[in-house]
Amino acid sequence: MRVVKTFYIETFGCQMNAHDSEKVIGTLVARGYSQVATPEQAELVFYNTCSIRDKAEQKVFSRLQQFKKEHGKGKTFAVLGCVAQQEGERIFEKAPHVSLVCGSASYNRLPEMLVQLESGNRRVTGLSLDTDETFDTPLTRRDNPHRAYITIIEGCDKSCAYCVVPFTRGPERSRASASIMAEAGELAAAGYTEIQLLGQNVNSYRDPSPAGWDFATLLAHVGRTPGIRRVRFTTSHPRDFVREIVDAIDANPSLCNHVHLPVQSGSTRVLEAMQRLYTRDDYMRRIEWIKSARRPIAITSDIIVGFPGETEADFEETLALIEEVEYDSIFSFKYSRRPNTPALALGDQIPEEEKGRRLAVLQERQRAIQVRRNATYLGRVEECLVEGFNKATGQWIGRTSQNKTLNFIRPARNAEDNLLGSYIEVKVTRAGPNSLAGESVH
Ligand code: 5AD
Ligand code: SF4
Repeated sequence: MRVVKTFYIETFGCQMNAHDSEKVIGTLVARGYSQVATPEQAELVFYNTCSIRDKAEQKVFSRLQQFKKEHGKGKTFAVLGCVAQQEGERIFEKAPHVSLVCGSASYNRLPEMLVQLESGNRRVTGLSLDTDETFDTPLTRRDNPHRAYITIIEGCDKSCAYCVVPFTRGPERSRASASIMAEAGELAAAGYTEIQLLGQNVNSYRDPSPAGWDFATLLAHVGRTPGIRRVRFTTSHPRDFVREIVDAIDANPSLCNHVHLPVQSGSTRVLEAMQRLYTRDDYMRRIEWIKSARRPIAITSDIIVGFPGETEADFEETLALIEEVEYDSIFSFKYSRRPNTPALALGDQIPEEEKGRRLAVLQERQRAIQVRRNATYLGRVEECLVEGFNKATGQWIGRTSQNKTLNFIRPARNAEDNLLGSYIEVKVTRAGPNSLAGESVH
């Protein structure tokens, strides 16, 4: 009889990482491991790591050190994900208590790596990037009972000058459309109503099977899955974002009114230095397609300030672009130097202080845009998927198709009603910069 082992897993980084952890958990549980809620209770401690910016990477090492000092005796530590891939065996030197280092392109090999760990090997690695496989597993343990992630494409073949992802997640590989459709059908049958299609660049999806679907075709098919009410997708690369994607959204009400289209900079000169493969005009053309859709589609973005060589005039162009697009929200970052990336070779680094100033200016401008944008929702009725309940305020927490948080009360109803997972029509009565509030209309 095999002894049941306990494990704890902590996840940093993007949705791809969150979903990878769900698959890793499924793999571990299938091998007889049982998940526990705190690292103290666990024999095996996993960190699924992110290295997108220096801060994210530092956090991993400080977590590892801190935990070892406090509770590390007798435990086995494993580092997964992007820092694992990037640092490889150097992790064993920096943190000798770690026994397994495995990047996401090697998760298919986890079962055999677990066998090695169980037999006492304290230096187990999975670091090859040379793969044409995706990590498809029927064993995924999903975290959220209503919304499920589906990976459609892994890795990235772009070479944005600032970005570690091509080095940490390997080459682009798309999953067969039949496998994606089967998973969507199973999720619907299991009661999920929202699907989020995931990939570093979903727009370059290319079905490897003879059906040969492109991303817009896949989107249209997933959107017709009976029982699935909402489909989202992330993330998009402007270079590969085609008009057919907007047409698919227009044609199919279950495709959400939201596109996340990271611009990174409003200056064509900086975009070129970033090796983004589009100009400001190319980007604005895509925004026009989205804005001319029959339904109003929310637009969000990622922006980096202080890329090497970014002048005040370049930065002003970014400020002008956010005003022109009128983003519903943005994620904004100070440029961070990453190992192996082409931008390391660029001169003219922007001082930290100046990056901080630009970030603050950008965020303040964006906040004003959001106040304006959200105010246009006042009086509108929006359908919300109910995701939570805030005991302190007595409000339900809903999410609109545009991916906005809409907190609401339900007057004249039994407070015991459990609305979680249901779809409720809510009239917006208040609008702040980051969320909306309202009352259910039935
Ligand atoms: N520095 C700062 N931000 C970065 N991003 C990616 N790499 C870096 C970096 N080196 C941002 C980009 C990307 C988002 C996920 O993280 O804006 O779209
Ligand atoms: Fe972080 Fe990028 Fe890796 Fe996601 S793919 S975990 S954002 S480094």
